[in-house]
Amino acid sequence: MNQRIVVVGSINADLNVHVKRHPAPGETLLGSGGNITAGGKGANQAVAAALQGADVAFVGAVGNDPYSEPALEHLRASGVDLDAVAETEETTGLAIITIAEDGENNIVVIPGANAVVDGGYVEKHSALIADAGILLLQGEIPADGFKEAVHRTTGRVVVNLAPVIEVNKAALLEADPIIANEHEAGLILDQLSAGIDSTEPHDLANALLEAGFPSVVMTLGSAGALVADSTGITDIPTPTVTAVDTTGAGDAFAGAFCARLIKGDSLIDAATHAARVGAFSVQAAGAQASYPTTSDDLPTV
Ligand code: RIB
Repeated sequence: MNQRIVVVGSINADLNVHVKRHPAPGETLLGSGGNITAGGKGANQAVAAALQGADVAFVGAVGNDPYSEPALEHLRASGVDLDAVAETEETTGLAIITIAEDGENNIVVIPGANAVVDGGYVEKHSALIADAGILLLQGEIPADGFKEAVHRTTGRVVVNLAPVIEVNKAALLEADPIIANEHEAGLILDQLSAGIDSTEPHDLANALLEAGFPSVVMTLGSAGALVADSTGITDIPTPTVTAVDTTGAGDAFAGAFCARLIKGDSLIDAATHAARVGAFSVQAAGAQASYPTTSDDLPTV
């Protein structure tokens, strides 16, 4: 397998607001913070993979505005190849994130420049995408950009369809694995007209396999993860840590998972490592700034 991971995805500036608890509908609360940090599910996953030693290239876009530099800071510092990241007339993608005292977050994303990453834009970078060992995709770019990226690659496709947008069914089913939490798994099954009544993780994983995915990795927060394929389902434990900020923990998992998969780890070994990276990341504020390098000591189960 070619050793390069290519991420076709989003780059955001994250506006972080700290609150005691999340507001109820119609309620106004006072918060604190207001700092801008680097985010975007694509960028987060690319940085997490690069910090775990992977060779990573990115296809995406930012604006020509004050948010682009903070958004690119960790991508640059971690050595991600940004030759296929355009500077556009749109504003840099912006995520408004509220983080409650228990570390749980709510996020609303304004796509901005990420909307430029459509089929035509992706096609321009087809040589880079074709050569990928792993093509890693999320749900923060236009659906035709997603489809075109899958169409162009000869590599292994890994998808974390977050948020769950409507995408081409055949392209989605190329995911090996599909990485999803329970909520996303339910929405993906609905999209494939394969919805089930159960929200139990093993049931969801089996339903995703039956829907046509060759393999499934389900992230279950503090309950760990599971890996499912034709050989069965394996539960993956996660270390117990004190969560300060869960923003981007799923992205840390997905990026670290791909970093190990491309080096030849099995799905189970890659997910076991990724669960430890995800647990490390919730112990500090922000997304990318909380991700470990290969020199950091990861928490153990
Ligand atoms: O998964 C966390 C990310 O979601 C944040 O960094 C934010 O930018 C949104 O894309």
